[in-house]
Amino acid sequence: MSNERVLEDKVIVVTGAGRGIGREFALLAAQHGAKVVVNDLGSAVTGEGQDEKVADQVVREIRAAGGEAVANSDSVAEYKSAAGIVEQAVATYGRIDGVINNAGILRDRIFHKMEPEEFDAVMKVHLYGAFNVSRAAATYFRKQESGAYVHMTSGSGLYGNFGQANYSAAKLGICGLSRSIALEMSRFRVRSNCIGPSAFSRMIEAIPTNTPEQAAHVEKRRKTMSPARIAPMAVFLLSDLAKEVNGQIFSVRANEIYLVSQPRPIRSAHNSEGWTPGTIAEIVLPSFRSALVPLDRARDVLPSDVLP
Ligand SMILES: NC(=O)c1ccc[n+]([C@@H]2O[C@H](COP(=O)([O-])OP(=O)(O)OC[C@H]3O[C@@H](n4cnc5c(N)ncnc54)[C@H](O)[C@@H]3O)[C@@H](O)[C@H]2O)c1
Repeated sequence: MSNERVLEDKVIVVTGAGRGIGREFALLAAQHGAKVVVNDLGSAVTGEGQDEKVADQVVREIRAAGGEAVANSDSVAEYKSAAGIVEQAVATYGRIDGVINNAGILRDRIFHKMEPEEFDAVMKVHLYGAFNVSRAAATYFRKQESGAYVHMTSGSGLYGNFGQANYSAAKLGICGLSRSIALEMSRFRVRSNCIGPSAFSRMIEAIPTNTPEQAAHVEKRRKTMSPARIAPMAVFLLSDLAKEVNGQIFSVRANEIYLVSQPRPIRSAHNSEGWTPGTIAEIVLPSFRSALVPLDRARDVLPSDVLP
């Protein structure tokens, strides 16, 4: 089993596959026998600029290792160009079996100073990007009655973070999108799952370290939390080994894999006469108080100083 090529002959689109985590997804998928469309706009972390060489380079690496891949440098942020990525997969390899929505940018800013353009740019790449590529592939998945999506979410959306309201909103939105796709397309044997990765890529390097202690911590984690550690989970989820896994969210970092809970009611209160603001304060609040979710952030939920 361990040497099995679990994506043999499957055609996989990986967006943002020129660098970081996406590059590792593309390399491992190809190693497992997939024909890979390596998409990457080649932009800066903030989304500006374009460089075709970024996707080309990964295609060269895959081919040098004996794998099959083709480059695409279109943006996922607009429907037409995103659909073109899926069309290239079908035109080149005759079909499409899986999509990894991985492309991403950051425009971090504390909320009360965040500009509408900063919110918009992040939504466009992450949430619209995931919709655009997924929707284009859905037409093929429905017809052939098979297909798998893996979307990158984030601890910032799942658990919370500072300075990333745009990114958190997009990343939690992606979980809702994935869950809806899973519910609606399971009857066509299509699966949709999310991974919240933690790995040292340029995206993480973009977060400033304010103290020597923080800088030392980053240096220590750079090796254990490498982007390559995220790839086996994505390849598993795309493969038929995961045929019973649908609508789920996982966090992955270093050698750890977590299954993440999804919102469910945890306390309830009923009053046959209905509620007033006053009776809510008097009766509901005391009964809910101990279960209110604390204002912690991703790093409080999954502290990285516990990693070996
Ligand atoms: N690194 C982490 O710890 C971490 C944590 C949580 C979530 N994520 C998510 O994982 C994914 C990969 O992140 P990474 O850390 O490898 O970042 P990265 O910056 O190294 O890679 C992202 C790639 O996406 C490409 N890209 C940007 N906009 C694009 C567009 N419009 N169309 C196509 N490609 C585009 C970039 O050129 C870049 O190569 C992202 O979705 C990110 O939000 C990463």
